[in-house]
Amino acid sequence: MYLSFYGLKEKPFNATPDPRFIYMSPAHREALAQLVYATRERKGFSVLTGRIGTGKTTLLHALRQRLDGQTAVAFVVNSSLDFDGILECILDDFGIAKGMESRSQRLLALKSFLLERERMGQATILMLDEAHNLDPQTLEQIRLLSNFETPNTKLLQIVLVGQPELRAVLQSPTLQQLKQRIELRCQIPPLARDEAREYIRTRLRVAGAPDLGVFTDAAVERITEYSEGIPRLISLVCDHSLLFGYADQKRRIDRPTVNQAIDYLEDDATAPRRLGRVRDAIARRFGGAGRWSVAVARVALWSVAVALSGLVAALALRLDTGVLALAQSMHHLATR
Ligand SMILES: Nc1ncnc2c1ncn2[C@@H]1O[C@H](COP(=O)(O)OP(=O)(O)O)[C@@H](O)[C@H]1O
Ligand SMILES: [Mg+2]
Repeated sequence: MYLSFYGLKEKPFNATPDPRFIYMSPAHREALAQLVYATRERKGFSVLTGRIGTGKTTLLHALRQRLDGQTAVAFVVNSSLDFDGILECILDDFGIAKGMESRSQRLLALKSFLLERERMGQATILMLDEAHNLDPQTLEQIRLLSNFETPNTKLLQIVLVGQPELRAVLQSPTLQQLKQRIELRCQIPPLARDEAREYIRTRLRVAGAPDLGVFTDAAVERITEYSEGIPRLISLVCDHSLLFGYADQKRRIDRPTVNQAIDYLEDDATAPRRLGRVRDAIARRFGGAGRWSVAVARVALWSVAVALSGLVAALALRLDTGVLALAQSMHHLATR
């Protein structure tokens, strides 16, 4: 709803792992280059780790885009599956016919698929996201897939992706053989402040923002501090800050607006509900209040007024005319 106010063509801070929005920090760039190299060189196992929300899944999507059109990819994200479930997903992604009863039949079908691809000079990759959740026994069975090989090359490249715990899982004594087969390890650390600033600007640019300096330096500093440089949290705070900035009709998002957004995010129990009401209030005030019946508006605004009385009071105290107008019109509609 704040899109047109900030001149945006689309939402810049959506929580989906859309590689169109990717910001290549030095660590993201390095990890992507290494993964591309590992797959081109037909390395057996690669491992990518990083804290939740650092961009691992987004990077996997970017990796898929960098691969040549001949490379087949199986992308498995459901880490609660056992080995047979994972095998089924792999066969499905590779388009290998279903209906085989036993595990050995499925493995044979996979092997002949891989051999055929190798004969045509085409690479085949298995990406296992959220691999930190896999139990050691399943990981050991996945290790056996890397035994599909010719004397010169591995038939299947396997990329294990997960949170830092994955590194500990791979230290398990039962996974020594897998550990020895890992040819590439890379990790994505959180973003530093300058990187966080570039992250925000990149996403704004992709979303079509005419002004990439929407967030002031002090705002970026606060966002980085709160998010600890985790991209997912940066996006969350930025999205909420734009919403609050819009309510205040602020062209620039400053530190107080970011703090306001953080306060709402921190108030876990009520934040989503309260934020929903802020959205409603804004929609009515600035976008098509005339389309709403006054009766509906009165009921909704009354509850907004009650639930957000603290917010409205705080906003009004700042004597911002736009906010005052919002508070007044809410009061007016609610009491008519
Ligand atoms: N380098 C990046 N560039 C752009 N967006 C990113 C980047 N890293 C993470 N994000 C965004 O943060 C959110 C979480 O990213 P995701 O890839 O799901 O993290 P992870 O898989 O590490 O938990 C997504 O909205 C994603 O688009
Ligand atoms: Mg992920």
